[in-house]
Amino acid sequence: MYNSKIAGLGFYVPDNIVTNDDLSKVMDTNDAWIQERTGIKERRFIKKGEDTTTSMGVKAAKIAMDRAKIAAEDIDFVVFATLSPDYYFPGPGVLVQRDLGLRTVGALDVRNQCSGFIYAISVADQYIKTGMYKNILVIGSEVHSSGLDMTSRGRGVSVIFGDGAGAAVLSREEDLTKGILSTHLHSEGVHAEELVLKAPGMGGRWVSDILKDNDPNDESYFPYMNGQFVFKNAVVRFSEVIMEGLHKNNLEISDIDMLIPHQANLRISQFIQQKFKLKDDQVFSNIQKYGNTTAASIPIALTEAWQAGQIKSGDTVVLAAFGSGFTWGSVIIKW
Ligand code: ACO
Repeated sequence: MYNSKIAGLGFYVPDNIVTNDDLSKVMDTNDAWIQERTGIKERRFIKKGEDTTTSMGVKAAKIAMDRAKIAAEDIDFVVFATLSPDYYFPGPGVLVQRDLGLRTVGALDVRNQCSGFIYAISVADQYIKTGMYKNILVIGSEVHSSGLDMTSRGRGVSVIFGDGAGAAVLSREEDLTKGILSTHLHSEGVHAEELVLKAPGMGGRWVSDILKDNDPNDESYFPYMNGQFVFKNAVVRFSEVIMEGLHKNNLEISDIDMLIPHQANLRISQFIQQKFKLKDDQVFSNIQKYGNTTAASIPIALTEAWQAGQIKSGDTVVLAAFGSGFTWGSVIIKW
């Protein structure tokens, strides 16, 4: 058995900054409401034709591979987490294999929304642990902007999300006291419809009928979120799954050097910080700049924290996420 370690990290966000004031020009919202409820000041949106979920993932991956000093021919497997794939099928994993010129290695797509990167890391970790693969590229990337309801009808959801990508190279670690110590995954599908994008799902609908109806008011093409219900579940599940990971490794809350929560809402992160009595420099937040980038939020935040020197060798780093499904999970890392 081996452990896996994060050998390289990278992220990419589009240049186009969209402020809360910009949103208030197209829908009935305002900077004060958005900042007070979510902490978000601005987010990045792709410009039409300039980027896609795959292209951003590829850019983030190249940075991560450079930093890990891993060449394309040394990547053994790809795991790509997204809720906003370029195509309905095939998923973006194979597009990364193509665009990075990887060998004909396996490419797996993960569909776990805000928890996607945690699930993706967990899958990659198992392959490395067993010795099957040595270097795995793990990507989280999202284009939300093209799928949001940018009218006042969608304001409760649309002000939260942003576009971006993050990537990590996971590599074999022979020292079993280092690297990824454990991963913890959960789901509760009874709440699937509380945070959902129903279309273009095939559940009970025929594409021929959708095309025939061609209804511009069909809201199933926009994400739906029961915000307060999601919030209440998120704070409980975040806490539970962080504690589960710590207990598994005989660690205490006081052992956490850096908590990287999925950047869902600043108020959720602050709630966890207060509950666990963590200091400001123990919890990383960048939702102010990027909004909620779903599967990309943890790798972007992890990369920024690492780039800023806020994660050092020997640190205990905790990743945790909660989101649509519901799904949630955590990763405990000895850096
Ligand atoms: N601008 C101005 N007013 C708004 C906006 C907006 N963008 N959106 C909603 N409102 C109004 C509502 O219409 C409502 O008005 P009313 O009182 O006249 O009816 C009022 O603001 C309060 O609306 P709520 O939905 O009750 O607002 P709430 O305080 O719950 O905040 C929010 C909404 C931010 C979505 C919150 O519920 C939340 O953070 N939920 C957690 C979910 C989350 O973080 N999701 C992130 C994505 S999913 C994930 O990553 C887990």
